[in-house]
Amino acid sequence: MLKGKSVLLGISGGIAAYKSAYLCSMLVKAGCDVQVIMTENATNFVGPATFEALTGHRTLTDTFDRNHEFSTEHVSVADKTDLVIIAPATANVLAKFAHGIADDMLTTTVLACDCLKIAAPAMNTRMYENPVTSDNLKTLKAYGWDILEPASGRLACGDVGKGRMPEPDVLFDAVVQAVSSPKDMTGLNVLVSAGPTREALDPVRFITNHSSGKMGYAIAGAAATRGAHVTLVSGPVAITPPADADIVSVESAQEMYNAVTDRAGKNDIIIMAAAVADYTPLHYSDQKIKKSDSDYSLELARTKDILKALGEIKEKNQTLCGFAMETENVLENARKKLISKKADIIAANTANGENTGFKTDTNILTLITKDNETTLPLMTKEECAHRLLDAILELRR
Ligand SMILES: Cc1cc2nc3c(=O)[nH]c(=O)nc-3n(C[C@H](O)[C@H](O)[C@H](O)COP(=O)(O)O)c2cc1C
Repeated sequence: MLKGKSVLLGISGGIAAYKSAYLCSMLVKAGCDVQVIMTENATNFVGPATFEALTGHRTLTDTFDRNHEFSTEHVSVADKTDLVIIAPATANVLAKFAHGIADDMLTTTVLACDCLKIAAPAMNTRMYENPVTSDNLKTLKAYGWDILEPASGRLACGDVGKGRMPEPDVLFDAVVQAVSSPKDMTGLNVLVSAGPTREALDPVRFITNHSSGKMGYAIAGAAATRGAHVTLVSGPVAITPPADADIVSVESAQEMYNAVTDRAGKNDIIIMAAAVADYTPLHYSDQKIKKSDSDYSLELARTKDILKALGEIKEKNQTLCGFAMETENVLENARKKLISKKADIIAANTANGENTGFKTDTNILTLITKDNETTLPLMTKEECAHRLLDAILELRR
């Protein structure tokens, strides 16, 4: 994946700079052409010669160094760079990147780069949690930077808290991830629904289904990785949401309907992957329903059809994707759903396959549009998510 990629490894003046030598070595071993640029302050922590030995290139620090091939080396380095990773990223250098300050070789070159950029902030917890730093990180995210979450633990200054640079293998994985996922959804607002709903009968009982939320969460995570602003409307699940999505937690089908339809107008792409209850108890009992010796029957009322409602209010340039989870006549039912709900694409999957449907980490999707029908092979839900997003972007072209 990384073979032949030109990586700019930027190192600023933090105590974690020594770890970047390992990262540098891993990138070189993976076949990357690595150019290291250090801030003047970073050279107090680790010597440029270490990186020169690892990369085979002169480590750059000085924009006005006369001893090089081109007079505008910052531009020539930026031109050939496929990916920038700043590790460690000091509070100072993050502030400069966020505000377009270009007063040394690193900040000047990065400002001239229009490729993928990753920063690994590393600093004292109070520096990290300072609202100024938080705002700078938000700004960088809005400009499309990937900001890696620092780890928590004992810091070099003796404090315990958040601010440690992740280990080199985590940084390396982030580079692999960034290279394999293009930022082709930057600027798009994406709404994803996921998980089951719970329809309460009384204060202690509810009707639900087996949805784990894994498919919808994978879609939300994939869209966020590709640069989209993601809102994830989620029923109750037991999995971790993607770090970069705005989470709206709901319980019932009615709450999901309200949360989704309220936000629909602000989104370019809407993907309904939630398993929403079709029926809800007609009457809710304020008190626990007491058991008796006789049978009990429950009257159910139809819930609101969210996908249908979205199809009716769909705006021009908005792409609507529904999911069809079936146990029989999967494709036939999915094709009908595409038309009746005025959706642009339906992802059909079966509930009763061995490695597909609810709870599993894998799935087989058939993507159905008005002109096309593609059945994907068995793959992880993350891979399914990317293939579905590829298909949606193709529709929008
Ligand atoms: C021993 C020592 C360790 C430091 N560690 C960090 C750090 O981990 N993160 C950080 O943001 N600043 C750290 N600083 C402060 C920065 O070095 C300082 O803000 C400097 O101006 C950053 O310059 P640069 O961003 O151009 O590399 C440290 C300073 C010293 C003296």
